[in-house]
Amino acid sequence: MTIQKINKVGVVGCGLMGAGIAQTCVQAGYETVVREVNRQLLDKGLSRIYDAWNTMIRKGKLTSEQVEENRARLHGTLELVDFADCDLVIEAVIENMEEKIRLFPALDATLKTDALILSNTSSLNVTQMGAVTKRPSQVCGLHFFNPAPVMKLVEIVRTISTTDETIETVRQFALSLGKTPVLSKDRAGFIVNFLLIPYLLAAIRMLENGMASRDDIDTAMKLGCGYPMGPFTLLDYVGLDTTLWAAEAIYEEFKDPLYAPPPLLRRMVVSGQLGRKSGKGFYDHQ
Ligand code: CAA
Repeated sequence: MTIQKINKVGVVGCGLMGAGIAQTCVQAGYETVVREVNRQLLDKGLSRIYDAWNTMIRKGKLTSEQVEENRARLHGTLELVDFADCDLVIEAVIENMEEKIRLFPALDATLKTDALILSNTSSLNVTQMGAVTKRPSQVCGLHFFNPAPVMKLVEIVRTISTTDETIETVRQFALSLGKTPVLSKDRAGFIVNFLLIPYLLAAIRMLENGMASRDDIDTAMKLGCGYPMGPFTLLDYVGLDTTLWAAEAIYEEFKDPLYAPPPLLRRMVVSGQLGRKSGKGFYDHQ
């Protein structure tokens, strides 16, 4: 089996996940190009990475010289054409299938023929993304967890078209990032969200029913189960929009009421209460 050598990585999207993924790739020594749709979003995403490195300098985890080297390996762009010499591109745009279906053929047309295209989707159909390219055997999921530079897990999602070579190359790439990869079939939610989403939705229903308060539910799961964050802290951290999209995608695929988004979640999302990223969710984050 041939395992491809990865030298240069592209990341599409420099939001919460895209920035974290780009940071992770740069820290692992890869030349990394990250693309956003406009200058404002790009600058915001790059600042997020620079801030994380400044914190790491303060904590003695990186030296200023290492951060200078990291900065030199990180290239922001507004153009897909800057991915032309990348060996592997990770898509981390909004969780919307129409967006992905528009993006994948454009990436396919821009990348060199042996480059791999990976999606960071948390729940959407990766097979469908591969099917709109001329290289479905070189497409798979590589799902990171927030905060991407810290969380050790990645899910590798194998479609019915992905080859063993692609999976092994991606597995080696994940290991080179310091991550522990697990392999999942392409079914909505993969492993983690299939199990995590019903738990988060159940916490929202519990609050809606008045069974317990937000703080008591969070405290119960932190201290009763040893989770690092209670469900409402985690919901705000992940983003309520991201949670809603994941729930909808899994519900759409399996029609299991466990995944039906509770009314409160929908209403918070339509009113812009998205969690940390918008300053307000189940908690205030001013
Ligand atoms: N870059 C580098 N380091 C970072 C960082 C970043 N972007 N963000 C945080 N860190 C580091 C901190 O500097 C800190 O380092 P030290 O321990 O060396 O000081 C470390 O991570 C822990 O951070 P904090 O001290 O700020 O806070 P903490 O100890 O409470 O940990 C946490 C924070 C890691 C987020 C922890 O609370 C946790 O594990 N929470 C659960 C997160 C989780 O479940 N994520 C998955 C969500 S699901 C998902 O993402 C998938 C999906 O599809 C929806």
